[in-house]
Amino acid sequence: MSRIAYVNGSYVPHRHAAVHIEDRGYQFADGVYEVVGVVGGRLIDEQLHLDRLDRSLGELSIEPPMSRAALRFIMAEVIRRNQLRQGMVYMQITRGVAPRDHVFPVNAKPVVVMTAKRLKPVDPKVVTRGVDVISLPDLRWKRCDIKSVSLLPNVLAKQTAKKKGAYEAWLVGDDGQVTEGTSTNAWIVTKKGVLVTRSPDAAILNGVTRRSVLRLAKDEGLKIEERNFTLKEALAAQEAFITSTTNYVMPVVHIDGKAIGDGKPGAFSRRLRDAYLAYMDESVEAPGDQSASKRRHVG
Ligand code: PDD
Repeated sequence: MSRIAYVNGSYVPHRHAAVHIEDRGYQFADGVYEVVGVVGGRLIDEQLHLDRLDRSLGELSIEPPMSRAALRFIMAEVIRRNQLRQGMVYMQITRGVAPRDHVFPVNAKPVVVMTAKRLKPVDPKVVTRGVDVISLPDLRWKRCDIKSVSLLPNVLAKQTAKKKGAYEAWLVGDDGQVTEGTSTNAWIVTKKGVLVTRSPDAAILNGVTRRSVLRLAKDEGLKIEERNFTLKEALAAQEAFITSTTNYVMPVVHIDGKAIGDGKPGAFSRRLRDAYLAYMDESVEAPGDQSASKRRHVG
């Protein structure tokens, strides 16, 4: 079956999907995006992703191109037309097409693009072994809370990680604090068993998975601190892991070649991954019911 993409009002074969060369996303990275997970044909945490999209658009003064209901309809339609069961929907909104000029164009309309991608579940062997990360300087701008398509420093860091045989790079600010991964949020568990992840400031993207995992960790009664941590503290941690829409909860077992804990995925990471998998299953069983997690709260 051939893939179908949505481009500005039309559903077109993926291989023919194109935008204009003067799209501001292409010329200035002047746009935002979302990646929403799909399990069992259902979108996971759709509302949180759309809330974040609204926020990103607002921070860049890009007019929402359509109502939320219309966006939701197109996402569902892209899933349906691609018969997608497991994978992700990618959505990108740029400020539009206009003659190249740094100043915002007056009459440009935002350009909306959506694609569906099939993804195999992460190889269980990878989860059982855990993954390695390296640390690199965080070279990004000061508004990483906006999910903008301007990802060059992330791309370069991920490529360096790949070249060095690592799965991800953790980015470290000039102050020595870990911000996040190139496309994931960073977590550690201290020797005292406290779950630590940076609080959502302008230096990181407030991951939707991060938010869901925090909620699940609270449900599990874990001790949580949302605060900065240094690379040094991470190296001395009992456990580390990353979260994202496509990785869920992924144990980290080496940082810069040094084993974290005993160099194997730890109990916290495993427990939170299981809780997250169960949460996704519940969401699929109760589609569109944002109370799946609330039901967990009330027991
Ligand atoms: N990446 N931090 C950054 C810089 C990211 O790009 C992402 C997501 C995350 C995790 O966010 P979430 O839990 O909402 O996926 C953190 C997506 C998946 C991507 O660019 O492909």
